[in-house]
Amino acid sequence: MLILGIETSCDETSAAVVEETGDAARPWAVRSNIVASQVPIHREWGGVVPELASRQHIRDICGVVERALEVAGAAWQDLGAVAVTQGPGLVGSLLVGVSFAKAAASAAGLPLVAVHHLAGHIESLVLENGELPLPAVVLVVSGGHTSLYLVDKPGDYRLLSRTRDDAAGEAYDKVAKLLGLGYPGGPPIDRLARTGDDRAVSLPTMRLTHADRNAPELKGDLDFSFSGLKTAVMRHVRSHEAPLSDQEIADVCASFQRIVVNALITRSIDAARRHQARSLGVAGGVSANSRLRAELKAQGDARELPTFVPSLALSTDNAAMIAAAGLRKFRQGVCAPFDLNADAALPL
Ligand code: KG4
Ligand code: ZN
Repeated sequence: MLILGIETSCDETSAAVVEETGDAARPWAVRSNIVASQVPIHREWGGVVPELASRQHIRDICGVVERALEVAGAAWQDLGAVAVTQGPGLVGSLLVGVSFAKAAASAAGLPLVAVHHLAGHIESLVLENGELPLPAVVLVVSGGHTSLYLVDKPGDYRLLSRTRDDAAGEAYDKVAKLLGLGYPGGPPIDRLARTGDDRAVSLPTMRLTHADRNAPELKGDLDFSFSGLKTAVMRHVRSHEAPLSDQEIADVCASFQRIVVNALITRSIDAARRHQARSLGVAGGVSANSRLRAELKAQGDARELPTFVPSLALSTDNAAMIAAAGLRKFRQGVCAPFDLNADAALPL
């Protein structure tokens, strides 16, 4: 069976065709994965402008879907279902994908499957590596999220902790803006950090001692917080009278990145140990980070804990991961009604 996936939750319009292989260990294969990125449009404004994003999704969606079918060598009648990101994300952007998917599925007489964006990021790991050894702990770390999940059974995601303020990717984007490095901030900070001294700037490490009043159901000790770190970088930059030299900027990047990666890895390893996880995965845009990937592997190897990250193409937002999560749900018999609505704050 082939499934068409559609993703428009933020600033990438994406469509993909994923095939069910019939191989239990490696259940899905990507036939096509087309991504039209809006980064050049939003860069001018230093971040995503929601209204511009939804308008651009409308312009791009038809061409992106047609191209995904063409590359996959598939026609509408070859498909078995249409999967779409229902949320969370920007509501105007989500609505473009959801409306398109409903119209297309209804016209082609196909079942519709609603997918949670973060379930997509988690399943991006299975798409390339096959089923993970379970239970697995998965860190989803992107521009909008920094959350740890426990996967006990395939398709079952239990939230263990999350960030109390900024997401890690958001902190990268804000710090890059402060340093004049443009949007999105992850890639330039990652690149400059390689030439910087990661101990040159003293920045606070993350410490959370109190409970999270907004999420009393979570224990809280595996939570994340990045806004204090961003403020410390801001103070450091503003305390300089002259603009920072290139070397000083690289030092800030390296020092900031050391603290962020350390916080992400320490809590993930801690969660894996507590839940006796048989594997540890990291997914989402920030999983493209070179230091995070290297350190995850090193720490996992030291503990004989298998670790997984997506390839760079599947780290950032894409529809192949939505198609994969959609296939999982479809096989569990969960389809969506045709009055499905987008939900900007959809819980997982
Ligand atoms: O998953 P994603 O494409 O979109 C969201 O769902 O948010 O993630 C985008 C985020 C941005 O904040 C971007 O700065 C960050 O991922 N990012 C990185 C790197 N590449 C992208 N962060 C750190 N290092 C990178 N190499
Ligand atoms: Zn994402």
